[in-house]
Amino acid sequence: MERRPGVIGEVDVRRMPSEDLAALLNVISALASTLDLPSLMQTAITSACDVMGLDTGAIYLLNGSTLVLQATTPPLTADFPDEYRRAPLEEHPHIGASLASGDPVWVADAASEPMSPAERGVCESRGLRSILYVPLAVDGTAAGAFIVASVDEPAEFGRTDIELCRTLGHQISLAVTNAQLHDSLVEANRQLIRAYDATLEGWAATLGMRDQETKGHADRVQRLTMNLVAAMGVPCEEWEHVRRGTLLHDIGKMVVPDSILQKPGPLTEEEWAVMRQHPEKARDLLNTIDFLKPAVDIPYCHHEHWDGTGYPQGLAGENIPLAARVFAVVDVYDALTSDRPYRPAWPHEKALDYVRKAAGSHFDPAVVEAFLGILEGAGP
Ligand code: C2E
Ligand code: SIN
Ligand code: SIN
Ligand code: FE
Ligand code: FE
Repeated sequence: MERRPGVIGEVDVRRMPSEDLAALLNVISALASTLDLPSLMQTAITSACDVMGLDTGAIYLLNGSTLVLQATTPPLTADFPDEYRRAPLEEHPHIGASLASGDPVWVADAASEPMSPAERGVCESRGLRSILYVPLAVDGTAAGAFIVASVDEPAEFGRTDIELCRTLGHQISLAVTNAQLHDSLVEANRQLIRAYDATLEGWAATLGMRDQETKGHADRVQRLTMNLVAAMGVPCEEWEHVRRGTLLHDIGKMVVPDSILQKPGPLTEEEWAVMRQHPEKARDLLNTIDFLKPAVDIPYCHHEHWDGTGYPQGLAGENIPLAARVFAVVDVYDALTSDRPYRPAWPHEKALDYVRKAAGSHFDPAVVEAFLGILEGAGP
């Protein structure tokens, strides 16, 4: 937009009554403050009517060659039929003319001027008399239009009115551009997250294969962990990270050779030294990926013990992140009830008994209590 002293868009503010100027500035700041398209549309059309001192208005966005009604003032009721919200552009030649010229177009009195049948239908049903059609553009391309009109009585439009409308059109167009850009960024981000999550599922399934873990087991660990995390009061903003951390908890075992991972007997001291590196390997890997940094607690800290005898840091008590304290219980229960190359699965009762007895030494007693509560009567 041009910047000349005293000029906003096309309106020379030095010749504007101060109340009009105040109203215009209010509109500009209201438009700039919202990125949500539906509320932006309502703000835009309500403000346009206020500033123009007109009775009613409607705002449309163009979808291909279809006008899609976004908002009106006074607002439409919820039962307004959906089919009336869409109209072919060609049936609304005044809007078409404003879009083609990029300039406001007006009808001094709809009661006496030629109108298309669709336009006449709208005008008669709403009692519109004097109408201003103002184009909206995004990126230099026609994006829609708004309409402000007097009801029942004709109104006079002066040069300042037209200029004011043109300025409003520019401001609304800018706000629509911003909101659409914002929406497309949000959507792109959502798609990116979905793609990342699909990748993670793939990694986890591959890890599970090496560890001879079944999908059923992984799903059960996931479900139990999420239930327990909710029961322990982990804030729900963190649940996605917990879910990803659970999925990737043993990703550090990627660097553990099969000869150790699948060894049928107990590990030697050297083999343990390698195995115990898996939490740090996980931390190093996940910390290089912004998307996964917040998920690092479980992979890095799931072998810490409540009494401080775990690894890799020897953290104790509440110094161990809550999500990791929760996950440790589920992980051990799951490991014990699964066949491992070094021992067959334990029965459910024996595993539960082990977990119960390890409360306060290996595990956070509060987590064990919640865990037993959830598994009560759930069976193996
Ligand atoms: P994992 O098999 O997923 O086991 C996770 C945790 O569950 C273990 O962490 C341990 O706290 C508990 N756990 C699993 N099996 C048993 C068991 O038979 N008895 C008892 N008391 N606890 C059990 P931990 O000990 O830090 O082990 C980490 C990983 O090291 C294990 O993950 C497994 O992959 C491997 N590992 C542990 N012990 C052996 C072993 O004797 N032989 C082989 N080949 N690998 C082992
Ligand atoms: C309206 O203007 O209130 C909706 C009807 C239309 O123009 O399609
Ligand atoms: C309106 O919706 O307010 C008028 C639409 C038109 O005349 O095309
Ligand atoms: Fe582990
Ligand atoms: Fe594990």
